[in-house]
Parts: sequence; C-alpha cells; structure tokens
Amino acid sequence: MNSFTNNNIEKIYITGEKKLTGNVNISGAKNAALPLMALSLIINKDFNLYNVPDLADTRLMSNLLIDLGIKLNWKKGILNFYGKPKKDEASDDLVRQMRASILVLGPLLASQGSAKVPLPGGCAIGSRPIDLHVMVMEALGANVSFDSGFIISSLSNEGLKGGVIDFPKVSVGATESAIMTAVLAKGQTKILNAAREPEVTDLANCLNKAGANIKGIGTDILIINGVKELHEVTHSVVSDRIEAGSFAIASIITMGKVQINNINPENLTEFLNVLKLTGSKIETFKNSMKVSCSQRPKPFDVSTNPYPGFPTDLQAQYMALMAIADGKTLIKETIFENRFMHIPELMRMGAKISVNRQEAEIYGVKKLKGARVMASDLRASMCLILGALAASGISEIDGLHHLDRGYENLEDKLANLGAMIKRSN
Ligand code: UD1
Repeated sequence: MNSFTNNNIEKIYITGEKKLTGNVNISGAKNAALPLMALSLIINKDFNLYNVPDLADTRLMSNLLIDLGIKLNWKKGILNFYGKPKKDEASDDLVRQMRASILVLGPLLASQGSAKVPLPGGCAIGSRPIDLHVMVMEALGANVSFDSGFIISSLSNEGLKGGVIDFPKVSVGATESAIMTAVLAKGQTKILNAAREPEVTDLANCLNKAGANIKGIGTDILIINGVKELHEVTHSVVSDRIEAGSFAIASIITMGKVQINNINPENLTEFLNVLKLTGSKIETFKNSMKVSCSQRPKPFDVSTNPYPGFPTDLQAQYMALMAIADGKTLIKETIFENRFMHIPELMRMGAKISVNRQEAEIYGVKKLKGARVMASDLRASMCLILGALAASGISEIDGLHHLDRGYENLEDKLANLGAMIKRSN
C-alpha cells in the first residue's frame, strides 16, 4: 500500500472497488456545533452541549473560547461550558486558522460591549468576505472599524439595539451572527432573507431553550425580541447532513448498500431526490436511511443553492459520482466563486471534465483509476476519497489537514463498511 510514499507527511491510501455494506452512525454537525459553541460567550450559566464532533475545527473553537476566558470540559462528545469571557480580543493565531471564528464577533460584542477579532482564514474557496457580518453589527447599534487586520466593534452606553437586517444575499454565518447578537439587544430585531439551513434552526432552537425569544425559526423572516439574559441550557447538536450525504454517495459509488443512522433525512430532501433521479435506491425512516445502487449512475444536472436547495457542501462529492455516470452532467456552483478546485485532481483519476467559470460539464467515464491526488479544501478532500473508493487500483490522498477539519473518524467508519483505507506516512 505504501509504494508511493516518499516523505513523512501522513496520507490516506485507498484500494478501490470494494462494495461498501453495513451501518454507519453520523456525528453531530460541525457547522451547527461551531456557532452553538460560540453561545458560551453569552450563556454564562451552566451550558451543556451533547453530540459535539471531535474535529480540528471544534478543537480550534474550544481553544479560541478558552483563550477568551471561558471554562470548558470536553468528555466523549459532551461539552460543558461555564464562566464568562475575560477579554474582548480574539487570538490572532487561532482565528486565522478557521473562517468560522468570525462567529465569536457578535457574542463577544454582546457580552463585553466591544470586540476585536482578526480577519478570519479558513477554506480557500473564494474570497469569502465578511461585509454581511459587519452590516449586522452596525444594524444593531455597533461602531465598526478596521485596523491592522482586525475588525474592531464597540457599543455606545445605550448598548445593543434591535433593528432591521435585510440581507442582500443569503448567508449562513451572517444569519447566525445576527441571531446571536440580537437575542440580547434592547427591543425587536427583524431579519429578512435569513438563511434557513438546519444548522441555523438548531442554533435558534437552542437559544429559545435558554430563554431567548426568536420567532419564525426555519423561515427566511426571523423576529427576535431581545431578552436581558440567557439561562442554563442543555442541547444536542443536530446530526451532520453533509457527512450523511457523503456516506450516501460512498454507498452508491461503490454499488454498495449502507444504512446511515442518527440522521434526519428531511434535512437532505433535495439532495436525496437528486440521488433517486440518478438511479439510486433510497429508503428513508425517521432517524435513518438505506442507500443502495446496482447500476452505473444516470447523469442528472444540478445547481447549488441555499437551503432547501442542493447544498454547495455536497457539490464536490456529487461530482465524484457524476464522474462515472452514464452520460454528461452539468453542475453549476452558485454560492462560492472558487469551489471547483477538486476538478484537476479528479481528472488525475481519469475523470473527463470541462469548466467554464461557475459551470462544470462532466462527461462520465466507465471507470476511474487510482492516482496520487492533493486535497485543496474540506469537501474537495471527500470528493477525492469517494473517487478513490470507486477507482481501480490504489490512490494516495494528500492534504489531510482539510479532511480532519470536518469528518469525525472517517477512516474507521469507512473501514467498518468494508473499504480498504489506511492513513500512514
Ligand atoms: C457556511 C458553512 C459552509 C457552507 C456555507 C454555505 C459553516 C461553519 N460553514 O459558511 O460549510 O459552505 O455556509 O452553505 O457553517 N458572503 C458575503 N459576505 C459575508 C458573508 C458571506 O458576501 O459577509 C457570501 C459568501 O462569499 C458566499 C455566500 O455569501 O458567496 C454564502 O456564504 P455563507 O452562507 O456566509 O457561508 P459561511 O457562513 O461562511
């Protein structure tokens, strides 16, 4: 298996063409856990989060919170937070490593009356501006300025004030920023064109359990009546629909049969409809689904869209599937401008793809071939793993720090389903 190895950096080696069968349990969603963890800055009573995935990104968020003065215990998927933030400046070193760190801006401002947060880093999938987060802070009464790579926000003596936030485009993170900041503002806040992702819903539900007053949850208009403080709360993080969708494709691409547990299939409705149209068999139950396929997938065109549309976070994985479809597929990426970096790597495995700006044409081939490939971002790395599972021969996947940001115990989960997968130098 290690015939390609020539240095000490860990890589994943996959021998493809093994049908995946059996059961897999899906972890809590990274994208829900991160904003929920940031709530510890404003829930200064006992706050317990269950079903927290152990990932590079959630570890990073906990370090960021600890650095701000929050105390926490992390045991087997349960995080217990207590205490208050002791400063208003987020660590430059930590924030640079993860774009979602911007989520501490609003709660820190609400808690401290001021916040100094470095401009974030994270996945290299386009410019990913933060103007909408700034718009949120200003709409709720903050003064915002920029200095030496920091966003500096502060409140007058009047504190946070409710306002109208009419987003010019749908943003998951900015909607979460608005919710987390408005719950403690004086008066009413109206959020228009809010993101409706299940992770946003999870955040709002947790806040309401802690005493917040948020109405319209799950719709694109949220009405928030500010409260003076939040009380203790216990909440379980919603399951990871992107991980579930990735395993669904892993089953289909290997012509396997996998039961995917601990999920809410309703959160994947559009994606599962697309998979059915490619010829896969999907049976959904309350908290699980069975996914199988016994033929080469049929092509089906998709455009990514905000929820409930086809998720951008499953675009790369779906492209791996369409790479072996029986015909041509058009995939349009409408959310991020640079989210096709997996294409040249997938082509090293024999995929035939042409790209024109935000559109990719995938000419399905009968078989992919194992190759040495490099992951460029989180979902791109899963796309390459999926390609390798279907490909003949051995693949070597490099750039694992991206993968480790978002998939808990991936190798074990795939190996339990019968994949030949190994991580080594
Ligand atoms: C979140 C998810 C990410 C997912 C994305 C879209 C987390 C931690 N990450 O990212 O996995 O791919 O939603 O579903 O939850 N934008 C602006 N200005 C802003 C903020 C965003 O123009 O201030 C743009 C972005 O560049 C992008 C679009 O809005 O084109 C949507 O991005 P957004 O929904 O904000 O993504 P994130 O919250 O960063």
